[in-house]
Amino acid sequence: MQNNVAYIKKTPSIETQCCGPEEILRLKQSYLIPCVYHFYKKPMQLVRGNMQYLYDHTGKRYLDFFAGVSVANLGHCNPEVTERVVEQLRTLQHTTSIYLTQPVVELARRLAELTPGRLQKTFFCASGSEANEGAVLLAQLYTKRKGLLALSHGLHGHTKLTLGLTGLLFWKIDPYPCEGISFIPSPYCYRCPLGVSYPSCNLECINEAEKVIKRNPEGYAAIIAEPIHGNGGIIVPPKEYFPRLKKLLDAYGILFVADEVQTGFSRTGKMFAVEHWNIEPDIMTLSKALTNGFPGAAFITRDEIASTLTRPYAATWGSNPVMATAGLATLDVIKTLNLEYRSEQLGAYLIDQLLLLKQKYSIIGDVRGLGLMIGAELVNENKSPAADQTDFILEYLKDHGILVGKTGPGRNVLTFQPPLIITKEDVQEMLEVLEGALQAVQKGI
Ligand SMILES: Cc1ncc(COP(=O)(O)O)c(C=O)c1O
Repeated sequence: MQNNVAYIKKTPSIETQCCGPEEILRLKQSYLIPCVYHFYKKPMQLVRGNMQYLYDHTGKRYLDFFAGVSVANLGHCNPEVTERVVEQLRTLQHTTSIYLTQPVVELARRLAELTPGRLQKTFFCASGSEANEGAVLLAQLYTKRKGLLALSHGLHGHTKLTLGLTGLLFWKIDPYPCEGISFIPSPYCYRCPLGVSYPSCNLECINEAEKVIKRNPEGYAAIIAEPIHGNGGIIVPPKEYFPRLKKLLDAYGILFVADEVQTGFSRTGKMFAVEHWNIEPDIMTLSKALTNGFPGAAFITRDEIASTLTRPYAATWGSNPVMATAGLATLDVIKTLNLEYRSEQLGAYLIDQLLLLKQKYSIIGDVRGLGLMIGAELVNENKSPAADQTDFILEYLKDHGILVGKTGPGRNVLTFQPPLIITKEDVQEMLEVLEGALQAVQKGI
């Protein structure tokens, strides 16, 4: 004990502690399982975050257009969230769900008010994967059916079952997938899996879904789907897609689990992405921006479905008061700053500007997105994925102080998901550097 105290007193400040990226890479190679991969040929060591900015150990500033994959919607270390979380940490850090505490029920009440339609009862847990697992389990209990449906380009997590539900091959590492899962084609119109074109296709992908369902019409409990594919490359479905899919599912008694882990909390210009199509999911899963950077997740459903889950089912972190306080603070800030509107407006501006770049640079094959969830798919002359050029642009942007993401089955979709508190000037700064990168690519890399 004595020794511990002495150690803590001697602990140096963040700056002097930094060992630099080379040493981190060495330690990573020695001590982390190699699946933990990173962006960039020359990665930096990040040590500090402040709203839309991240800083490396040399003090270099990066304007962040990825928000830790759509997590820090209110900015890094947002002071309001941080203050309330620190206060909660000092007061009561952990109890677990067998004891009564207030923040968790308050957060559940707020989610019931904010989510669409009759969604009302919530179960809290720690990660998006856990929320998705719980949601499909609940669907199976409610429907008394076992089969599950998912989309060909979806991603739903890293646990055994959620990997099974993940269609995206890049992330689908499990050679022994769970049984009983069927996939339907994603509405990826730029590269239609069925080889047809929208709108003349009249949504052939929905007909295809019906064919799959008809092979086992009373076998499927639920479909899990992201309203907009995130890791799949920011795939926004045609506006009729989800209304028609929901109608089809209802006809066969199949529940719709909306995975809003990435799209939730104003990211797409609405509080939840399903609102773009006036859809009421049967179950909705939430994580990432729910707590703006603390581990936290949930699934929410209507009373009638919730009432099937009565046997004890618990998650150690599920009723954590710090997680719930972070969620409550996040919802307050979203409301105060009207982030839905901000996301919608700045997102529309960014899309317009990217479309202008598309006219100038043929490598940009497609620009798509809603709110501040935007992708620019980079392609070669023959439309094949321009993956090397995407990597070059990512590195160039990083070297010039801008962080963006990379997604898509071909790893060729530049992905823009900044904290929603960014300004128009931030968007302009990013675009200027991006144009420099595109010019460099045009000259040949
Ligand atoms: C749409 C979606 N669902 C689920 C997950 C899994 O969440 P977690 O990594 O918290 O388990 C992710 C992670 O990126 C995601 O993007």
